[in-house]
Amino acid sequence: MMLLSFYIFSLFFNAVFSMVIPCHRPKNSSDITPFQLTLIAPSTRACNISAPFTDECRTAEQAAPFINKAFDDYAISSVGEKAAILSLMLFETGDFKFDRNHFPAPGRPGQGTRNLMTFPFVHQYALDTPSTHSRALALAGPNATDPSITNDTMNAVRDLVLGDELSFASAMWFYKASGPERAGCTANQSLADGLVAQTRQGWEDYITGCIFTSVTEDRASVWEKTLSVLSS
Ligand SMILES: *[C@@H]1O[C@H](CO)[C@@H](O)[C@H](O)[C@H]1NC(C)=O
Ligand SMILES: *[C@@H]1O[C@H](CO)[C@@H](O)[C@H](O)[C@H]1NC(C)=O
Ligand SMILES: *[C@@H]1O[C@H](CO)[C@@H](O)[C@H](O)[C@H]1NC(C)=O
Ligand SMILES: *[C@@H]1O[C@H](CO)[C@@H](O)[C@H](O)[C@H]1NC(C)=O
Ligand SMILES: *[C@@H]1O[C@H](CO)[C@@H](O)[C@H](O)[C@H]1NC(C)=O
Repeated sequence: MMLLSFYIFSLFFNAVFSMVIPCHRPKNSSDITPFQLTLIAPSTRACNISAPFTDECRTAEQAAPFINKAFDDYAISSVGEKAAILSLMLFETGDFKFDRNHFPAPGRPGQGTRNLMTFPFVHQYALDTPSTHSRALALAGPNATDPSITNDTMNAVRDLVLGDELSFASAMWFYKASGPERAGCTANQSLADGLVAQTRQGWEDYITGCIFTSVTEDRASVWEKTLSVLSS
């Protein structure tokens, strides 16, 4: 009897809550699946509890919903743009094993999130995000290069944006909304067109002209793998 009434109560409880709380956004046919992530990066099948920074590790299953939500929120829909952004995230975080810069130890202050942005971008992201704006401003003020900002303060600002929802969305924010024009990489339409076109030249222009780093074969092979899995 107890069990039955508990069961009925649970049904009622679930029914009420599923009516009032839309916890999950509807699945979208263009969503990246956890299985696709494991095809690109097999180590995302599980997190190794003995590995370093294990609290920062996320599996494919954990990461996929946040990645898909961020692509939707920033209206990034082409396979070419998604492949470039996702492969950058995987490359920068050792396949989602960490989301703070650790190397060389103790790591560069304030650098992190799932695309391992440097502090000036972490700071802009925290200021431009309504839920973290006032805390970021109180901690570090409006100018990311103000020399009075200490390493601890940079890390505290970074902590504001390390929750999965913000951390897995920062690469999309960077691409669409960072910088003085709040247009990110898409301030240059021809750069965005190059990614949509899925060409090697387009991807290289993104890496050198917007991420401001250099093209290496390690990076290129993650991008090629990602593009091939997302295209199939
Ligand atoms: C887990 O991490 C530990 C420590 O880094 C390592 O020795 C071990 O080989 C890893 N196990 C797997 C299955 O990767
Ligand atoms: C599905 O994803 C596409 C591409 O990201 C997006 O344009 C569309 O709004 C999404 N639809 C829903 C219902 O989320
Ligand atoms: C702050 O971080 C920089 C870069 O890692 C380091 O060189 C410097 O010694 C740190 N400052 C303090 C006070 O720890
Ligand atoms: C930010 O601080 C740096 C270093 O003090 C200074 O050179 C720069 O002009 C400041 N930027 C703004 C927008 O105030
Ligand atoms: C825009 O991107 C193209 C590559 O698509 C590059 O050749 C050009 O220099 C960029 N323009 C600016 C103003 O950065």
